[in-house]
This record gives sequence, structure tokens and C-alpha cells, in this order.
Amino acid sequence: MEVKKIAFTLLLAFWIINLIKLNSLFKKVCIASDHGGYNLKEIIKDFLINKNISIIDLGPFENKTVDYPDYAKKLSNRIRAKKSDVGILVCGSGTGMAISANKIKTIRAAVCYSEKSTRLSREHNNANIIALGARLTNKNLSLKLVEIFLKTKFEGGRHLKRVNKI
Ligand code: RB5
Repeated sequence: MEVKKIAFTLLLAFWIINLIKLNSLFKKVCIASDHGGYNLKEIIKDFLINKNISIIDLGPFENKTVDYPDYAKKLSNRIRAKKSDVGILVCGSGTGMAISANKIKTIRAAVCYSEKSTRLSREHNNANIIALGARLTNKNLSLKLVEIFLKTKFEGGRHLKRVNKI
């Protein structure tokens, strides 16, 4: 009985800590993928919902073959229109999504593949989209990168001058 109580208390504490751990800087987050990123998109979405972060899913809504530029454009235009603060794009490599998204004015999409590249994309480049490659980055690392992306502040200062030149 006592062991059960302790286990329950530990589980509860773990759940509460997990719930409040992700202090996102951004309130309005959106996500989209192609077929290569569909499964990871669903995992990221669940992860953020469990962290109490509201997330708009721009599709696709089933695992069918689609063209990544269509989804990159949809999500980027939403950010450009200030309906979302930041976005998450997932395809096989992250590259197609980032290339497409960066065609849209005001978008700074970064392919993030490590903790450092993710942190720098926010601190130095004020990236407003994280592009992930589901075929190159495993699930746990991807979730970590999303978390870092949402929690890392732009440093401003000398970086602001440069970002304004883009
Ligand atoms: C789709 O097969 C794949 O080309 C796409 O997900 C992405 O990796 C493109 O950059």
C-alpha cells in the first residue's frame, strides 16, 4: 500500500513537472508537414498539446503523398499575416520545407539538426520557422529541438542589424 502511494506521488510529481517545463516564448504556434514528415508532425503535435501549448495544424490530415512547397507556403503565409508567431515544418530532410518557406517575405526558416544549430537559429537569426527532417533526425532529438526553439530568445544587438539586412 505504502509503495503504491509513493509510486503514485512520484508519478503525479513527474506529470506536473512535465506539464510546466516548457515555457514557450510564443503563444501562437503552427505546424505542417509533407508525407515524409507526417508521423513526426503528429508526434510533435501531441508533445506540445501535452505541454499545454496550443498548436494549429495546417495539415496534411492523413498520411498521403503531398508536395512540401504547398504546405510550406500555407504555414509561412500564416506567419507573414501574424496569425501565428512561429511555425514548425517537417519533411524528409527539412531542406525542401526551408527552401520553400524562405521564399516568403518575413520568413526566416532554419533547418535545425542539433541543439546548437537550433539555439543559434533563434539567438542570432531570430528564426521564425524550425524545419525538421524526419528521415534524418530521430523523434527524441526532434522534440528536444522543438523545445529549445520555443524557449530560446533572440539576442538582438549586433544580430538585429544583420537580420534587418536580410
Ligand atoms: C519527399 O519524398 C521528400 O523529398 C521531402 O520530404 C523532403 O525531404 C524534401 O526536401
